Amino acid sequence: MKNYQKVLSNAFVNKYAIPHFNINNLEWAKYILEVCEEEKSPVFLGVSLGAAKYMGGFHVIRKMVDGLIMDLNIKVPVILHLDHANSVEACKEAYDAGFDSIMIDASRYSIEDNIKMTNEVINYCKNALIEAETGKIGGSEDNFTNEIYYTTFEEATNFLNHCAIDMYAPALGSVHGIYKSKPNINIDLMNKISSSNHIPLVLHGGSGLDDNILKESIKNGICKINFNTELQISWNKGVRSFINNNKDIYDPRKIISSGELNMKNTIRKYIEVLGSKNKGE
Ligand code: 13P
Repeated sequence: MKNYQKVLSNAFVNKYAIPHFNINNLEWAKYILEVCEEEKSPVFLGVSLGAAKYMGGFHVIRKMVDGLIMDLNIKVPVILHLDHANSVEACKEAYDAGFDSIMIDASRYSIEDNIKMTNEVINYCKNALIEAETGKIGGSEDNFTNEIYYTTFEEATNFLNHCAIDMYAPALGSVHGIYKSKPNINIDLMNKISSSNHIPLVLHGGSGLDDNILKESIKNGICKINFNTELQISWNKGVRSFINNNKDIYDPRKIISSGELNMKNTIRKYIEVLGSKNKGE
């Protein structure tokens, strides 16, 4: 069995979702791990290619996360995850650096190429959890902007028949970033894909969705929900108000950590909504 397979199947069987929080730096990883440990929640630490570049590379991140787990005495399952990698090469590099979970996102290519690339990743990254996507999740990810294109049931079934992945992210109407209009998440399609294929589903673009949509999604097969924007917004609110009220302070530790409380509250709220509290014991 792969590392962390049990953590994922536990969510699938017991109908809760593991939160995926994107990280951008040491502080974000630290805040997320501290709250997850307090709440006893398993967690995916998501790293986009842009964030990996920003932090210096996959090895830096692996070692930084290992150091935090050790020094902060984190006992809950922490799954270091590559988010939306659009090349097989990047997936292999992250895996070689010790990532636990890999998302190959070849959704911009034809379904045949998507299947081919996904299988290359499955064959190489043998011990990692593998996530893949079809259709188009809207919004932007590292400057790649696209329109929403819902995965069809036939496409989903065809893809899953050809790729033995661990988690599947069909496009169900969600958007990365801020929703510009009322979200239209296709719960019926989610349910149909989940009940016919028995595979943990992933919901991207969790920020900005109502709690009841998140809960409904979990009832209908979603086992991992990704959050990034809402963490950025809450951190930013705290920092902006601190800077405005403390014009003389220039210590970066004080400035960066002025977003900590807000960000931690957001993390705690999502753990509650997703039902992952006390599931990481
Ligand atoms: P949000 O930025 O909308 O929360 O989406 C995050 C995400 O899906 C990362 O893969």
